[in-house]
Amino acid sequence: PLRGCTGGCLYPLLHLPWLLTTEEIPYTPVPASSSLGGLTTTSTFLLEQPRCVFNNTYANAIIWLVVAIPEAVPTFNNSVGPGTPERAFQGFPTSAPAYMTLNTTLDNYPCPTSTGEITVLRVGSETSCANDPTRPTCNGPLSSPGPYQVKFLALEDSKPVAETFWSKPITLKKAKQLSSISTMGDGHSAGMIALTTILSILFAILLAGLLAMLVFYGSDTCGGSSSFRKPEAVMVQRYNTHHVYDQTAPRL
Ligand SMILES: *[C@@H]1O[C@H](CO)[C@@H](O)[C@H](O)[C@H]1NC(C)=O
Ligand SMILES: *[C@@H]1O[C@H](CO)[C@@H](O)[C@H](O)[C@H]1NC(C)=O
Ligand SMILES: *[C@@H]1O[C@H](CO)[C@@H](O)[C@H](O)[C@H]1NC(C)=O
Repeated sequence: PLRGCTGGCLYPLLHLPWLLTTEEIPYTPVPASSSLGGLTTTSTFLLEQPRCVFNNTYANAIIWLVVAIPEAVPTFNNSVGPGTPERAFQGFPTSAPAYMTLNTTLDNYPCPTSTGEITVLRVGSETSCANDPTRPTCNGPLSSPGPYQVKFLALEDSKPVAETFWSKPITLKKAKQLSSISTMGDGHSAGMIALTTILSILFAILLAGLLAMLVFYGSDTCGGSSSFRKPEAVMVQRYNTHHVYDQTAPRL
């Protein structure tokens, strides 16, 4: 009864022909409510698998995921087959208002056996076929934040036999926001890295200078080899260390 009110209510007559042939399963696809991070990225989102949703009447059906722009939902035609130009991922959302992907048989969506099972689908995970027109059912990355609405559609011999409700609009992360945040973060850490690097280089130069002085004056005093001169050498070193330090500062 609640079904289709995201837009279907406006076009009840257009829905009638398919209601007669395609069974409405009272299930609404939901974004995965997992504690895992990254449920939604800029080009993908996670959905709960439709487990225990289609009963054995549809054992021979192929379950497809339909991804549509909300404008296409009210007039969506279940009879337009997957892989046709109107349902090709490569044409979405300009020439194809929806695409069909993630086709699988019902036995891949069994009832959950244990509660800890990860039973999600990642929509948009296949990058290899995104631009390949010979693979119109590609589960390719989405190019804009959407929003999108999805439903599962069961086809038997290419004919629609059952469908779920449409999901609520799903919006992806906005690339702009993400990049501005990460740029800020990157800029900050890049500055820190640069500062740390400069400081460590300066420190290394000072250390090298000190070492050079030690070696230089060390060998000098060794030539004279007298236990008497040792305190003197230390004093000379100290003086020169100070001198080197003063010289480095104006160079910067
Ligand atoms: C499957 O669902 C349909 C409609 O809800 C029902 O008529 C049928 O008896 C169910 N079949 C099984 C095997 O549960
Ligand atoms: C739905 O698509 C099928 C197959 O392309 C077509 O025959 C039918 O006329 C379409 N129905 C509507 C209402 O556009
Ligand atoms: C999904 O459909 C495509 C094209 O119709 C087909 O090549 C592929 O084998 C199907 N995959 C599965 C798992 O049924």
